[in-house]
Amino acid sequence: MAPIISIKGLEKTYDNGFQALKGVDLDIEEGEVIALLGPNGAGKSTLLNCLVGIANKTAGTVTVGGHDITRDFRKAREMIGLVPQEMSVEVFEKVINTVKFSRGLFGKPQDDARIERILKDLTLWDKKDNRIRELSGGMKRRVMIAKALSHEPRVLFLDEPTAGVDVELRKEMWEVMSELKKSGVTIILTTHYIEEAEAMADRVGVISKGELLLVEETDTLMKSLGKKVLEIELDSPATEVPPALAEKGVELSPSGKLVYTYDTAAEQTGITDILADIRSAGLRLADLSTKQSSLEDIFVDLVTQQKSEEEDAA
Ligand SMILES: Nc1ncnc2c1ncn2[C@@H]1O[C@H](COP(=O)(O)OP(=O)(O)O)[C@@H](O)[C@H]1O
Ligand SMILES: [Mg+2]
Repeated sequence: MAPIISIKGLEKTYDNGFQALKGVDLDIEEGEVIALLGPNGAGKSTLLNCLVGIANKTAGTVTVGGHDITRDFRKAREMIGLVPQEMSVEVFEKVINTVKFSRGLFGKPQDDARIERILKDLTLWDKKDNRIRELSGGMKRRVMIAKALSHEPRVLFLDEPTAGVDVELRKEMWEVMSELKKSGVTIILTTHYIEEAEAMADRVGVISKGELLLVEETDTLMKSLGKKVLEIELDSPATEVPPALAEKGVELSPSGKLVYTYDTAAEQTGITDILADIRSAGLRLADLSTKQSSLEDIFVDLVTQQKSEEEDAA
């Protein structure tokens, strides 16, 4: 199946000369939830904004539902519902009117049954005649989502849906997103919370300084966290892994080193046994080194940054 969104070589340089996106490639399948994970300033909003025409891309091609976002902007834009990072709602307006109005902006015919369905799905139906300023923070956020869904988009963008909200509201938003996923909407959300990406996304893209560093299935990504690699150099390059070591998961690198990946969180890493096996196989060590997987480096950077932000905020 053709991807619902296809991004190739997307670049964005702002008028002041700052390059916020440096060639992003990404295909998104219909029905998946993808989280773009990255620290503040990474370029997450810029990416979404380029896709909906709030920012103009400098280079690259993007198609949404097969429509080129430059040549066929209206058709492409129609397929996307955007929940922007900054909440912007008309506080004196009634919930139902603001959602109907959003639909009208896309030139869609009035459809009261559809609006009712959307408000019910977001448990806003009881509040349909309330003015937005009377609503709680969580409900206001749901109104933003209702607006974004009002024109029946196939893709929903949620830009930092839970930034700066308390834990309870975050959980509430996660539930709302899970329900939306079940209904089959494709979701792209941006976040700087690893837990959020883990909880919500089928795939995670890590974005930093305008580059998409990796895109990976969430499960795979989470498994590779907390892993370290031990490299064992022998006095002459190994040509095969001795059976006792192979059994423990030791592998051979192209340069003839023995490589062992272990879980830093495990009670026993198995390193002592491996070194003993090397000795009993009659092999001699020349050098030993351990390194974190690059993925982990990225996450450590992210977490460190996240922590310092939280400290700044506190
Ligand atoms: N209108 C603009 N003009 C110049 N630079 C901008 C503009 N908007 C954003 N930037 C810069 O682009 C980078 C990426 O911003 P943004 O996409 O908002 O990041 P994120 O959403 O990941 O926090 C930041 O360094 C930001 O300062
Ligand atoms: Mg942003």
